[in-house]
Amino acid sequence: MNFRNKYVLAIDQGTTSSRAILFSHQGNIITLAQKTFQQYFPKPGWVEHDPNEIWYTQSSAIKEAMAKADVTDAHIACIGIANQRETTIIWDRETGFPVYNAIVWQDRRTADYCEELKAKGYASLIQQKTGLVIDAYFSATKIRWILDHVKGVRERAERGELCFGTVDSWLVWKLTRGTEFITDITNASRTMLFNIHTQEWDKELLDLFQIPASMMPEVKSSSEVYCETSTPVFKTGIPVSGMAGDQQAALFGQLCTDIGMIKTTYGTGCFMILNTGSKPVLSQNNLLTTIAWKLNGKVTYALEGSVFVGGAVVQWLRDELGLIQSAAITEQLANSVPDNGGVYFVPALTGLGAPYWDQYARGAIIGITRGTSAAHLTRAALEGICYQIYDVLMAMENDIHAKPKEIRVDGGAIANNFLMQFQADICRCPVVRPRVLETTALGAAYLAGLAIGYWKDVDELKEQWSLDNIFSAEMHEETAEALLTEWHKAVGRSLNWAVD
Ligand code: G3P
Repeated sequence: MNFRNKYVLAIDQGTTSSRAILFSHQGNIITLAQKTFQQYFPKPGWVEHDPNEIWYTQSSAIKEAMAKADVTDAHIACIGIANQRETTIIWDRETGFPVYNAIVWQDRRTADYCEELKAKGYASLIQQKTGLVIDAYFSATKIRWILDHVKGVRERAERGELCFGTVDSWLVWKLTRGTEFITDITNASRTMLFNIHTQEWDKELLDLFQIPASMMPEVKSSSEVYCETSTPVFKTGIPVSGMAGDQQAALFGQLCTDIGMIKTTYGTGCFMILNTGSKPVLSQNNLLTTIAWKLNGKVTYALEGSVFVGGAVVQWLRDELGLIQSAAITEQLANSVPDNGGVYFVPALTGLGAPYWDQYARGAIIGITRGTSAAHLTRAALEGICYQIYDVLMAMENDIHAKPKEIRVDGGAIANNFLMQFQADICRCPVVRPRVLETTALGAAYLAGLAIGYWKDVDELKEQWSLDNIFSAEMHEETAEALLTEWHKAVGRSLNWAVD
């Protein structure tokens, strides 16, 4: 096939925005369009999205990216999808209408139910089958909440009238006007209902959560031609041929395709993932075992440390506190003070993920004095992101009994040099920033392109990865250790805060 003058369209449907990016054969960004959408917080700890708004913003981002590049359908070789994971949507198979808002991965409404499951001793069974720890983060308890709390929904589900999907399934459903009901294996591995060893929906877990099997989408690999679009967004059918949860897509986009390679994405949350190859490693240190991708029939596994609040803390400083005008100003502000002035900010705004898994932890800012300024608070917020990544890295090192050679980084916040330098200082490990920052979308594009032969193989892709900068530790080790001691004291204060 002649791919000259053709692009790959990557859909990157994230927690706070829907993006569309056109990539060239060289892996360069041609155009990018981004649309934010409303976040709903109906009660403390609850987070919802409107599934239709997800689709409207996504389709309008696609149209805008194409218009900016002045291209038509004929210039698009294929489509790859990366998406916010775990977020749960249930809709009617006939009408396509959602029965409730999307319950977002950050939502904590099922925390008590998760505690009950832990108390009943299900933790080990669930970890053995799914690789996950019991937490409100994953889809299973969110599905059950909708079935139990939205009038008439359980009966409709039992009659086979409803579909459950993570955002990848929802987007494919919309892109094909309701003809394809599928998910990819990486997204399936985040539901707490998928057996990562047999690679099937797990009957015992579906029964435990009282979820009818008829609601579940067909599970596909991360790179194959699934279908062609039939939405009016495009005039012709374009193959959809790559899908992965956004963090797995970023791992692929960073070309962390060899065992032992690690990436961290700094998005709404921060997610460190380590490629563990063809064998799932069950964590002894509160990390998740997850599927990195399924490519050419082979499953690659990964260990993941999920930090719930990363870039979201900067958004919070800007939007809820009004302390800063823009995220971009944080680098300058943080550098305007010699240190954090004794202030520590634990950004447990939606509880704490790995390695603490405390659903009842809440945000804490501690060490404030009369001399504390906006710059100190901002610096403490950025440092808080880095300390959380340090905690995850230590858990990973303990699981694999080795120190990684480097950490590849991506996501919008990595443009912040203060953040990158501080991360390297605290982790005592080189932090490697690539030239293309949009590695999530790039990973989705790569997965899609490989399936149709737009790119030949992973080796061809590896040649496209190029370096922007390496940050190495400059801070004295004793200084880093002293900061970490204070950080862990601060974390101790935030744990269990919201328990009645
Ligand atoms: O697991 C949640 C994750 O997929 C969300 O990613 O980029 O929207 O913060 P992001």
